[in-house]
Amino acid sequence: MALPRGKSYIRLDQVSQEDIDNLIIRVNSCTWRQTFHIQPVSGLLNDPNGFCFYNGEYHLYYQWHPLGPFHGLKYWYHTKSTDLVNWTNVGIAIKPDEYFDSHGAYSGSAVEHNGNLYLLYTGNTRDENLVRHPYLCIAVMDEDGNIIKSKKSVLNKVPEGYTEHFRDPKLWKADDKFYAVIGAQRTDKTGGVCLLSSSDLLEWKFEGELATNLEHFGFMWECPDYFEMDDKGILIFSPQGLEPVGDLYQNIYQAGYVVGEKLDLQRRELIHGDFIELDRGFDFYAPHTMKDPGGRRLMVAWMGLPEIEYPSDINGWANCLTIMRELSLRDGKLIQKPVPELQSLRKNKVEAADIIRDENKMVDGFSGVTYELVCEFEQGDALEYGIEFRAGAEEKTVIKYDAIQKKIILDRTLSGKVIGSTYGTERKCRIAGDSHKFQLFVDSSSVEIFVDDGEETFTARIFPDIRSQEIRFYAMGGSAEFKAVKWDYL
Ligand code: FRU
Repeated sequence: MALPRGKSYIRLDQVSQEDIDNLIIRVNSCTWRQTFHIQPVSGLLNDPNGFCFYNGEYHLYYQWHPLGPFHGLKYWYHTKSTDLVNWTNVGIAIKPDEYFDSHGAYSGSAVEHNGNLYLLYTGNTRDENLVRHPYLCIAVMDEDGNIIKSKKSVLNKVPEGYTEHFRDPKLWKADDKFYAVIGAQRTDKTGGVCLLSSSDLLEWKFEGELATNLEHFGFMWECPDYFEMDDKGILIFSPQGLEPVGDLYQNIYQAGYVVGEKLDLQRRELIHGDFIELDRGFDFYAPHTMKDPGGRRLMVAWMGLPEIEYPSDINGWANCLTIMRELSLRDGKLIQKPVPELQSLRKNKVEAADIIRDENKMVDGFSGVTYELVCEFEQGDALEYGIEFRAGAEEKTVIKYDAIQKKIILDRTLSGKVIGSTYGTERKCRIAGDSHKFQLFVDSSSVEIFVDDGEETFTARIFPDIRSQEIRFYAMGGSAEFKAVKWDYL
């Protein structure tokens, strides 16, 4: 059978090895292949799943449709690492081949129990009328990496009051019991999050919905994640169906969190503050966290969005994951920092410092396709300052501070091939102060920008011409001083 071209549920073993090899050749010929991000060997990647530290290694799985850059039959793909930077492709972890996951092994999470790693995931099925019936399923990985799916699903009915959109369990253990939050849609077509519990990970009980003060907040909440930090309870989720408000909610779907009191598991109530978007850029969804052995809360997200086409599609692949980020809480807000392990990629350090006034300055050694760039600006009287990167004669991606609007702005209007333009080509957020620090992680087709040491982040895919490699520091309407360091990531 030839490769499918649109949404389909064709399995890998139904296509010929020759078709797969040809697809991989097409993928590998793509100039936008990433160098230090997790990306699929072919086809489409979406949500990170089951991020954990088990048996001396980090394990990270993701949603994978191998046969093309669209959302067809999903597998769990397995990668692992000892340093959060160099990831080894292990291969398929979960195949959708049972009655309870026949139309996709959808998102879920992992927890260690009795020396094994338990993977709790969503079995997606569709009946003859294509109506969905989700199941909750378990697979168990042993120390040798063998993964065995349980022959029975562990929850096979959506609880009363919810639609078939009931998925993405995120596990944790508290007081010798296991809990999971799960994304849900109420029958009135609003989104929410429910709580499940289990004493052995095999028998699960539906506890009920978590009460929040976001009763009417989109039509579905995907990929919830609950954890505690500094005596606070934090609920991350990806709500769908929010209308844009000012600079907020500009993407097709959002990803964000609320911070509140620790969850009262008996009353299932979360007393919390406002919903805050996790990232201010264009391509960030379904974030997923874990606590590592050193006690750090690490987060990774899908650097992409549902229902958006990407220019790499013609080469037979789409999407990647973000770099790993460490979370901390400051004044009720999550701060994101790239994990320091990434510094092992730093090569060929170059430095520059200057005062610029109404000019666009290039500095020797500052150019490239894959690098880390840290630049601190001191505002003089400039009305605007920033950095143009992946720039050439006609292309540039711009991160800037606009001192009139008092906003940080990421502009990908001229970034190269257009992506999701109906959702606009600029993203902005207000920020305190006039002097700002930008830390950029630039890969062949993406940028992740940490502003003021993680106070804000902007994540975006960009698809410039391979020749667009310039970096230009600029100030307009006055002067600014900058200090920059760049390392190649080879
Ligand atoms: C989020 C999502 C999840 C689902 C998975 C399927 O992007 O739609 O809700 O489990 O992707 O791949």
